[in-house]
Amino acid sequence: MAYENIIVEITDHVCLIKLNRPKALNALNSQLVAELSDAVRQAETNDKVRCMIISGCDKAFAAGADISEMSEKTFVDVVTDDLFGASLLPIQNANKPIIASVAGYALGGGCELAMMCDFIICADNAKFGQPEINLGVIAGIGGTQRLTRFVGKSKSMDMHLTGRFMDAEEAERSGLVSRVVPLKRLAEVSLSIAIKIAEKSQISVKAAKQAVNRSYETTLSEGLLFERRVFHSMFATEDQKEGMTAFIEKRDPHFRDK
Ligand code: CAA
Repeated sequence: MAYENIIVEITDHVCLIKLNRPKALNALNSQLVAELSDAVRQAETNDKVRCMIISGCDKAFAAGADISEMSEKTFVDVVTDDLFGASLLPIQNANKPIIASVAGYALGGGCELAMMCDFIICADNAKFGQPEINLGVIAGIGGTQRLTRFVGKSKSMDMHLTGRFMDAEEAERSGLVSRVVPLKRLAEVSLSIAIKIAEKSQISVKAAKQAVNRSYETTLSEGLLFERRVFHSMFATEDQKEGMTAFIEKRDPHFRDK
């Protein structure tokens, strides 16, 4: 697929996917969503890729679903197309880690896309929000569910009912983002974090991602059991032997994903 709305680059085992509709603040139209999903699918099957980053431009990660494209749609249209249903599943279901690197606006579907990734690093100019209420709709790509899990009911309800924006400092304080960095350093820091992940045993990375994600879907006792079983299974890998031996021998491990 030829991409017109995203730029994809692979460096140091990291696939950088940059949303590139700056004139529309990277609003998520159907073409961009199709390209993004295709790029993630390709990265999933590319052995050179061990981690992904989704980013936007300095002014916007993404200012939401494309309002111009949606405005004339009817109920029957969106139900028939299952708008934002299956189209974003490749991101939600990715096995490889995906970091959202957010500068500027991450609003509506943009905030939801960031939350769909494994974690969010943002620049100090980031602004998060679920302003769909101002358009006479509600969030439709997981905002009411994921934002509530990130920041709790009170703040999530505030965001969804008033449509107000949250700045980077509040987003970090509330647990929505893992780190805030100066805008000028966002790309460099995001890449260095992704490279660090890419250097780990990919078996452990996949297991850790699955176990953390399981915490959203299950009870504590089931989650603890799942984690312990996965932890036990790691002892069947060569990477466990290598990682622990390297520690004892006071050297860096050489993981082989085996
Ligand atoms: N869809 C389509 N176009 C958009 C857009 C969007 N979500 N957001 C911004 N744009 C376009 C603007 O129309 C404008 O285009 P023109 O230059 O052709 O007029 C361009 O991007 C620049 O935007 P502004 O001139 O508005 O820039 P600003 O700096 O004055 O304001 C903003 C920035 C506060 C982000 C403002 O653009 C804004 O409020 N955007 C809409 C945010 C929003 O409501 N997002 C939710 C969308 S609905 C959704 O996402 C549903 C869902 O959950 C699935």
